[in-house]
Order: sequence, then C-alpha cells, then structure tokens
Amino acid sequence: KKGNYEHFMQKEIHEQPESLTTTMRGRLICGDSSKAKSVLLGGLKDHLKTIRRSRRIVFIGCGTSYNAALAARPFLEELSGVPVTMELASDLLDRQGPIYREDTAVFVSQSGETADTLLALQYALENGALCVGITNTVGSAIARNTHCGVHINAGCEIGVASTKAYTSQIAVMAMMALAIGDDTISSQARREAVIDGLFGLPNKVKEVLKLDDEMKDLAKLLMDEQSLLMFGRGYNYATALEGALKVKEVALMHSEGILAGEMKHGPLALVDETLPIIVIATHDACFSKQQSVIQQLHARKGRLIVMCSKGEGPLVCSNGSCRVIEVPQVADCLQPVVNIVPLQLLSYHLTVLRGYNVDQPRNLAKSVTTQ
Ligand code: UD1
Ligand code: BG6
Repeated sequence: KKGNYEHFMQKEIHEQPESLTTTMRGRLICGDSSKAKSVLLGGLKDHLKTIRRSRRIVFIGCGTSYNAALAARPFLEELSGVPVTMELASDLLDRQGPIYREDTAVFVSQSGETADTLLALQYALENGALCVGITNTVGSAIARNTHCGVHINAGCEIGVASTKAYTSQIAVMAMMALAIGDDTISSQARREAVIDGLFGLPNKVKEVLKLDDEMKDLAKLLMDEQSLLMFGRGYNYATALEGALKVKEVALMHSEGILAGEMKHGPLALVDETLPIIVIATHDACFSKQQSVIQQLHARKGRLIVMCSKGEGPLVCSNGSCRVIEVPQVADCLQPVVNIVPLQLLSYHLTVLRGYNVDQPRNLAKSVTTQ
C-alpha cells in the first residue's frame, strides 16, 4: 500500500496535490459572465445564516488539527466579520471556559475520535452552541454528534504525524470562510482571487514538493543538532508551530515554533552562532516586519535558514550568509498550505537520518481516545 514509498508519512506528503484536489472536488464553482465564482459546502449551506449571525466562532481541536485552524483563522476573521477565537480542547475543558448559545463552535479533528475534542463537543452541546465538525472520517463520533460539518475527504491517513490532513483542513476552512463571506459584495474580488488560488493550489504543491532533495541536504546538515527554532507570524504563525511539532514528534528533536512578534520578549536570549533558526518570510502584509526580524537575528549572529517567496532570496538574505528555501507564492491566506510542505519533508528526512520510526513515533498514537 506504500507503493514506491518507504514510509506512509513520505507517501502522504507526496500525495498532497491529489488529496487537495479531492478535498476541493465539486465544491468550487467556476462561475461565468452571469454568475460569480463561489464555493459550495453541502454540509454547511443550510447553516450559513446562523453562523453569520453568531456572536463568535470558536475553533476547538488538538495537535495538528488545532494548528490548521490557527492557520485559517486570519482569513475567517477577514471574511466572516465575526470574532474568531481558538481553544485547545484540553485547556477549554480544564477551565470549563465560556461557550454560549450564540456561539458557533467548530471541532477540527482528522480522526473524529480524539477524546478531548469529543468531550469539548459534549460540553459545547450542553451549552447550546451550534456545533460544526471538520473531520476526515465519515461516521466518526465527531461527524455523528455535530449539528453539521464538512468532511475533508483527504483519504485515509496512516502515519501518526498528520501531513495531508493538515493541508486539506486548511483548504476546507478557507472554503468555509469563502462560504460564510459569500453574502458580502465588498469582498467579492478578494473571494474570487482566493478561489482562483484554490484552483491552482495542487499544482503549486506539486512544485514545492520538488524541494525534496534540498530538504534532504538540509536534514543532513541539521541531523545532529539538539534544537531547532521556527519563527513565523500572521498567516504563518501556524506554519512555525506545525513545522516544529513535526520535527519534535517524528524526528525526536527539540523544536519550538515562535511568534516572531514575541522575539524580543524572551526568545532572542537563545540566539547565538550555533542554534539553527528557520524564519518563514514569504511575501505578505507582514513581510517588512519579518525582514527586520531577520536583520535583528543576523545582528546577533543567528544561524538562519529563511523560507521566502520564489526570487526573493536576495531580498531576505542580502549578504548571502544564510541558507534560503524559495517556495512558490500563492494567495496570502493559502500560503500556509505551500509553506508547511518543505518542513514536512525536512522532518521526514531528519527522522530517517536519525534512525527513528517514521510512521509510529515512540510514545505517540494516531488517535488519542483517552484523556
Ligand atoms: C455529500 C456526500 C458525498 C457526495 C456529495 C454530493 C457523504 C458523507 N458525503 O458531500 O459523498 O458526493 O454530498 O453532493 O455522504 N457532517 C457533520 N459533521 C461533520 C462532517 C459532516 O454533521 O463533522 C454532515 C454535513 O453537515 C452533511 C453530511 O455530514 O450533512 C455530509 O457532509 P459532507 O460529506 O461534507 O457533505 P458534501 O460535501 O455535501
Ligand atoms: C494525535 C496525533 O496526537 O492527535 C496527531 O498523533 C493529531 O497527529 C492529534 O494531530 C489530534 O488528532 P485528530 O484526529 O483529532 O486530528
């Protein structure tokens, strides 16, 4: 079942152009001269009015699923006009945090069976919120117990480290934002541009997968390190968290995703000429802020690896002293889908080189069904 691949994780990383295509199949409407481009999510269409009228949208999940929601959050805020908040399921339960009747609670889970996410769903149902599921597993507990939802249709994922489900979850939440914002004329041009971006996304992911050998070389360089930091912000704060989660969970190397805006409030103290740091600086509204972060890390002799948009290597690394990963540019809100791929490849190669179990990392389970 692994075909030409050595591991399921490797297969699932390389499958992403196809899994994204399946996720979007039948859900993007081309439009023509008489009809605008739009999105159709069968599972949500009868609930969009309620979602638009809700007081807030709160995303709830664990691990990679939480990171996917975090990646989609800025675009959801932009198009829904409703406050969007984030909850790690376990933390919501620990605090018994407020969930109201006027809330839309969105439960994101690849398996649809994660214990904390399910308990948070029970809690939100008891509190009277509209409960929406985003899951990869038809018939799962979350799919059955939510009021409505969307199946991500990424196909079965076997590697414990989630890869293709992450990118499909982001694509679904971007489509969800487009569907929620569908009644707003002022955002129509923006929505159509992002729909065009979604149509082109599988090919861009195909293109970024060509970095495989480059990521293997980078893994050779980093394989004996103790630690690896990842700095991101805006749309790509989630990319830093998810990239670091991948490195930690499969390559068993300490890694931390850091919000670049918090750099001066602690992380800067760690910077020296030995600690490797990946900075995500693809072109979006935060680009100039990331350029200044790079300069400040340089000034402290940081060992930098910068991920930037194709052709912008010289812009982010003028003196040639850092390593550059150039990725294809897509619509800003879809860039996290492209940017995570080199980091998935890096964590895969680090794991193989370090001699660890790729598909079943020690102490971890694909589906955590106990608290
Ligand atoms: C559905 C069919 C799909 C068919 C398409 C044709 C299923 C599972 N899907 O897809 O095979 O090709 O119509 O129009 O039969 N739901 C939840 N919670 C969740 C996820 C989903 O309640 O976490 C509900 C949805 O609200 C919906 C149903 O499950 O009522 C199916 O969801 P989804 O597969 O996303 O719907 P479609 O894309 O319309
Ligand atoms: C486990 C998996 O920790 O559960 C992760 O190993 C996953 O890959 C997390 O992100 C949440 O799982 P799910 O199925 O709710 O998305």
